[in-house]
Amino acid sequence: MTDQSDTRYHDLMQYWRDNPEAYWMEAAEYIDWDVKPTHALDDSDAPFYRWFSDAQTNTCFNAVDRHVRDGRGDQVAIIHDSPITGTQSKITYAELQDKVAKLAGALAAKGVTKGDRVIIYMPMVPEALVAMLAVVRLGAIHSVVFGGFAANELAVRIDDCAPKAIIAASCGLEPGRTVAYKPLLDGAIEIAEHKPEFTVILQREQLEADLIDGRDYDWNAVQDGVTPAECVPVEGSHPCYILYTSGTTGAPKGVIRSTAGHMVSLYWTMEKIYAVKPGEVFWAASDVGWVVGHSYICYGPLLHGNTTIVFEGKPVGTPDAGTFWRVIEEHKVASFFTAPTAIRAVKREDPAGKLIKDYDLSHLRALFLAGERADPDTIQWAFDHLKVPVVDHWWQTETGFAIAANPLGVEEIPVKLGSPSVPMPGYDVQILDEGGNEMGPNELGAIAIKLPLPPGTLPGLWNADDRFRKSYLTTFPGYYETGDAGMIDEDGYLYIMARTDDVINVAGHRLSTGGMEEVLAGHPDVAECAVIGVTDELKGQLPVGFLCLNAGVNRPHDEVVTEVVKLVREKIGPVAAFKLAVVVDRLPKTRSGKILRATMVKIADGADFKMPATIDDPAILDEIRDALKTIGYAA
Ligand code: COA
Ligand code: AMP
Repeated sequence: MTDQSDTRYHDLMQYWRDNPEAYWMEAAEYIDWDVKPTHALDDSDAPFYRWFSDAQTNTCFNAVDRHVRDGRGDQVAIIHDSPITGTQSKITYAELQDKVAKLAGALAAKGVTKGDRVIIYMPMVPEALVAMLAVVRLGAIHSVVFGGFAANELAVRIDDCAPKAIIAASCGLEPGRTVAYKPLLDGAIEIAEHKPEFTVILQREQLEADLIDGRDYDWNAVQDGVTPAECVPVEGSHPCYILYTSGTTGAPKGVIRSTAGHMVSLYWTMEKIYAVKPGEVFWAASDVGWVVGHSYICYGPLLHGNTTIVFEGKPVGTPDAGTFWRVIEEHKVASFFTAPTAIRAVKREDPAGKLIKDYDLSHLRALFLAGERADPDTIQWAFDHLKVPVVDHWWQTETGFAIAANPLGVEEIPVKLGSPSVPMPGYDVQILDEGGNEMGPNELGAIAIKLPLPPGTLPGLWNADDRFRKSYLTTFPGYYETGDAGMIDEDGYLYIMARTDDVINVAGHRLSTGGMEEVLAGHPDVAECAVIGVTDELKGQLPVGFLCLNAGVNRPHDEVVTEVVKLVREKIGPVAAFKLAVVVDRLPKTRSGKILRATMVKIADGADFKMPATIDDPAILDEIRDALKTIGYAA
């Protein structure tokens, strides 16, 4: 971004505030357009905003083909590093173009066309990225579903986005456990009302799947003899993908990402936040099923001509807490992104950072953390041992890129531990009181962003305009409600303190306690229930269930607890990490019948709390405390 290149953070923010249209039009120059945009913002349908809506372009062309055209064909685009299988492989941009065009050709031959939805249910293999790119090459819309979700969650997504096809792998690999995907996929298709026309299955040698004749096609066989597909130009506001995320209820929200704004914003972040140059290696140790995986395993690095790493492993145990450092040394990683929980896991196994010393990390220039609150101890530990800037940055599935960060590519601003630093251009972040009034420095309130949100953020929810309005736009008219609470200090630094809804964050995974409650309530012996997120040293939060049983149920409570734990694993998936539940006689409520979950969290965490004025019967809190003590909480 030539004319912004020697600007400092405050100047950049001022430039954006004064000239938002020019700001984003300049950022758009880094994208290849079939038809250039004549303007950035289209507010003709506010509060539904669109960006670069009169442009035509293709995401796959920008992420792959143009790099081959421009001489990067021999550069490695994707490194697959799997400590679980003990294998590594590399794919150059030229090879990636070939693979993507062939798979897209196969999908097109089976009738996939612009606007069709394709679900991708795959583990951390490079074919997951090939599948994403092949879908967008055709102007179709992908929806990647995380492998740790159960069949029922997959079915909910199938019914919501009605895919023409599903691309899956035969299995995923967790340490010590092979996750058979095909039975989950078959189960989901059976549960769902909508039936996809066909599936494409990548057979992995660890566990091959049985294919159903006429519905399931083998990944390789389906590509035999097909004509490779060209990139299909689409409108700037055409959806590139839908990514489901947890909301207040069990029904996930289908966040839409539009083609042009997505590319413009991600390209911008690679340079201005992550401070990498094209050709360098960028690694996000997340999963393609999450937004971090979409933005920073797949699209961001590839749009920017970086080499990305698809890592199939865990921070610890594959084989040890030195894995991250081994990958960074071996592949010369310049910028590394992971969740605080992953660093906490490493720190717990290797508190003195001994394993770090075994590796040459001289290429690493920064560590980025997001997905949950980064506690000061973890940041300090990482900084002391890695001796590079450790950047906490705050964002959401809805925004697709950082709302607040330390923009290393612009200027490294002083770090304040506990704060993800300052808002990025495009985001006018405000702290609001219950009446929607802007609050002063250091005052705690709801975090909201003045509309319009910048390019790349959600233009809406899939097939759910009303829910979009209600979830994000209604509480504070003129603002986007983030669902987070916090404050801004006198220097403009943001502090993210808590969620204002029923979302919890377990090991960097966003989960709905409401969704878990729906599952618990489905158990025949459960009359009433509540799920809260309690503080956990490793995972940030862990869900704990409270069960009130139907009158006359005389079974041992342990049996019911075991059954509900199994039920959540079956219905939501292992990723929910739901392992703790207690049986209680009653739940604490307000006089109007609202369950006092926040007070229960305070009791579990052993924190001070004010007796809610509206509580129906304060004595119940002692019962809750006693129940929590039986599972090691409320100390
Ligand atoms: N497919 C199937 N199952 C999966 C899965 C996947 N893709 N990912 C996780 N699971 C399962 C795990 O096997 C585990 O099952 P278990 O109950 O049988 O042990 C369960 O889901 C919980 O997994 P996880 O949250 O990963 O916990 P863990 O105890 O296995 O590992 C950490 C703990 C901290 C090492 C791990 O959570 C981690 O690496 N976190 C980083 C998270 C991250 O990168 N988030 C992305 C946001 S940036
Ligand atoms: P997700 O949509 O899964 O990325 O989850 C987004 C939510 O995770 C945010 O709304 C926050 O509650 C939380 N979160 C993400 N990053 C941070 C951060 N750096 N600090 C505090 N909370 C964060």
